[in-house]
Amino acid sequence: MNAPMVRAEGVRKHFGKLEVLQGIDLTVERGQVCCLLGPSGSGKSTFLRCINHLEKVDGGRLTVDGELVGYRQHGIKLHELREREVAERRRDIGMVFQRFNLFPHMTALENVIEAPVKVGRVPKAVAREQAQQLLEQVGLGDRAGHYPAQLSGGQQQRVAIARALAMKPKLMLFDEPTSALDPELVGDVLDVMRDLAADGMTMVVVTHEIGFAREVGDTAVFMDQGVVVEAGDPRQVLAEPEQERTRAFLSKVL
Ligand SMILES: Nc1ncnc2c1ncn2[C@@H]1O[C@H](COP(=O)(O)OP(=O)(O)OP(=O)(O)O)[C@@H](O)[C@H]1O
Ligand SMILES: [Mg+2]
Repeated sequence: MNAPMVRAEGVRKHFGKLEVLQGIDLTVERGQVCCLLGPSGSGKSTFLRCINHLEKVDGGRLTVDGELVGYRQHGIKLHELREREVAERRRDIGMVFQRFNLFPHMTALENVIEAPVKVGRVPKAVAREQAQQLLEQVGLGDRAGHYPAQLSGGQQQRVAIARALAMKPKLMLFDEPTSALDPELVGDVLDVMRDLAADGMTMVVVTHEIGFAREVGDTAVFMDQGVVVEAGDPRQVLAEPEQERTRAFLSKVL
């Protein structure tokens, strides 16, 4: 199938009277990295949450890998998916948050095998082997037995990435994965994300790491007040933005 991995057409979302997404148009092709930037409250997290149906879209059309998020289409009719079907589709999408949300009473390895064993019904021995490989991939092969409290923020975030990868997602969503980290820990996490991108993972990354967006991003999307103000090649959007709003924002974060 040649459908883009993510396609948003006029996506709308409101919370009560607040129109948080006012018609988002955006396409992420397979294997591409899309970096989302924009001021606080512009709707970046809400949009990411719509992609894996943690929020329900109110209008427009949103597809992942050619399938409507949250609905099945029969002719011109849309049928809302049942919770079980939503959960099934969500398994294909990995999400990494600003706060790592690891299970504190589980070791790094136990955190990584939890979903494959409980949800994916992968045999424990197989899951452990895969988890060890994933921990090595994120540079933490020697920390498998550590509990989150025994790991730095950057290490915890890399465990969180390994945990998301354990379900073999076709799409990874990152919501400001480095913004809660001490500056010296940011690089290791970005390196892991850079490797993932180089391996061909499709990624949507909310980040204010302009350097990362410029080097790794295939597209940069600047959002403000629930709309895409400007999108395109990161080297263009971030270096020579056409829109005044983009320029004003970049002058604050750079
Ligand atoms: N569940 C909710 N109920 C009501 N309002 C919400 C809800 N979630 C988000 N909002 C509001 O929607 C707007 C957009 O929020 P969102 O978290 O998407 O912004 P953001 O661009 O991710 O901001 P930040 O950079 O601060 O993370 C904000 O005004 C927020 O207060
Ligand atoms: Mg946010």
